Amino acid sequence: MSAPLIDPFQRAIRYLRVSVTDRCDFRCVYCMSEEMTFLPKKELLSLEELDRMCSAFIRLGVEKLRITGGEPLVRRDIMTFFRGMRRHLDSGALKELTLTTNGSQLSRFAAELYDCGVRRVNVSLDTLDGAKFAKITRWGRLHQVIDGIEAAKAAGLKVKINAVALKGVNDSELFDLVDWAGAEGHDMTFIEVMPMGDIGNEDRLDQYWPLTDLRAQLATRYTLTDLAERSGGPARYVRIEQTGQKIGFITPLSHNFCESCNRVRITCTGEIYTCLGQEGHSDLRGPLRAADDDAALETAIRAAIGLKPKGHDFDYSRQIVGGKMSRHMSHTGG
Ligand code: GTP
Ligand code: 5AD
Ligand code: SF4
Repeated sequence: MSAPLIDPFQRAIRYLRVSVTDRCDFRCVYCMSEEMTFLPKKELLSLEELDRMCSAFIRLGVEKLRITGGEPLVRRDIMTFFRGMRRHLDSGALKELTLTTNGSQLSRFAAELYDCGVRRVNVSLDTLDGAKFAKITRWGRLHQVIDGIEAAKAAGLKVKINAVALKGVNDSELFDLVDWAGAEGHDMTFIEVMPMGDIGNEDRLDQYWPLTDLRAQLATRYTLTDLAERSGGPARYVRIEQTGQKIGFITPLSHNFCESCNRVRITCTGEIYTCLGQEGHSDLRGPLRAADDDAALETAIRAAIGLKPKGHDFDYSRQIVGGKMSRHMSHTGG
């Protein structure tokens, strides 16, 4: 293997998140505006190019690969890509191949994903109330996702539920969500809403429910013990002593976790973003397409990681939205 990827702050990059499409079959209110313009298909990396790109990162020491979108499972023939990545799991170079999905297509793909070596999926689900779900996702239907989650479980996949904490939306459902996840055997992680992209008439500050509040609410009913355990992502976990359940908190606003950042992101057009919360990015599609061997690509990857910033500047503390990004979450896949 070549020398590992180390950024200017001595953080080793071992986690690659790859967005394979900017499209989605939902239009979540905190993520997209209703009218979205998507990239022309010819701009996208082909499945072969995605394979080459990911394989180059794995050669450079990436051990965890998470496929995202938009909704990754709406990309045509994406299973061909997953099947290809299996060889890196088999060789031991890749420790985990996983995805973050809205769950809408899991009924179709869960068994095949398991077959490709996927053992764990993160499914976004903010509410268990059908009417609320339709409102949040605009185009989604709750039963689709619940069926998808059941299919995943039946296929042997471990499911983690991701819920964005939304004031006035799912704050009244905290215990319903946690108790449902516990009964179903799913881990659960809450996420603070981040200022990513223009979302039409919605207001981030109105949506923001700090996880310090959420945690305090949980503690009124349960005993919470901080866990040292990490999944390789930004979440910090607690255990609910009464049920043994694990709950994660992703707190980019109320507590910054950038010092331990181990990840970079690739968009579906082959741009590398070395921080979710900064505009800086570099092109990797050019170097990838410039030659059949990966020398130029590896040089470009190292150069990009050499520019990885210290962290994001999201900030709502002055009652204005600070550190806002012009791009939507679906551009880089979270
Ligand atoms: P595991 O720990 O492997 O379960 O996954 P993860 O938390 O790394 O991935 P997931 O796709 O479930 O991400 C959950 C949320 O964390 C998403 O909304 C991401 O946007 C957010 N997130 C992941 N990495 C970062 C980061 O570096 N900075 C910020 N601000 N948010 C992040
Ligand atoms: N802030 C926080 N989380 C978001 N997600 C999408 N947009 C935002 C945002 N603005 C979440 C999705 C999914 C994950 C990939 O990112 O709900 O769980
Ligand atoms: Fe689609 Fe996920 Fe964005 Fe919702 S949050 S619109 S499911 S990409």
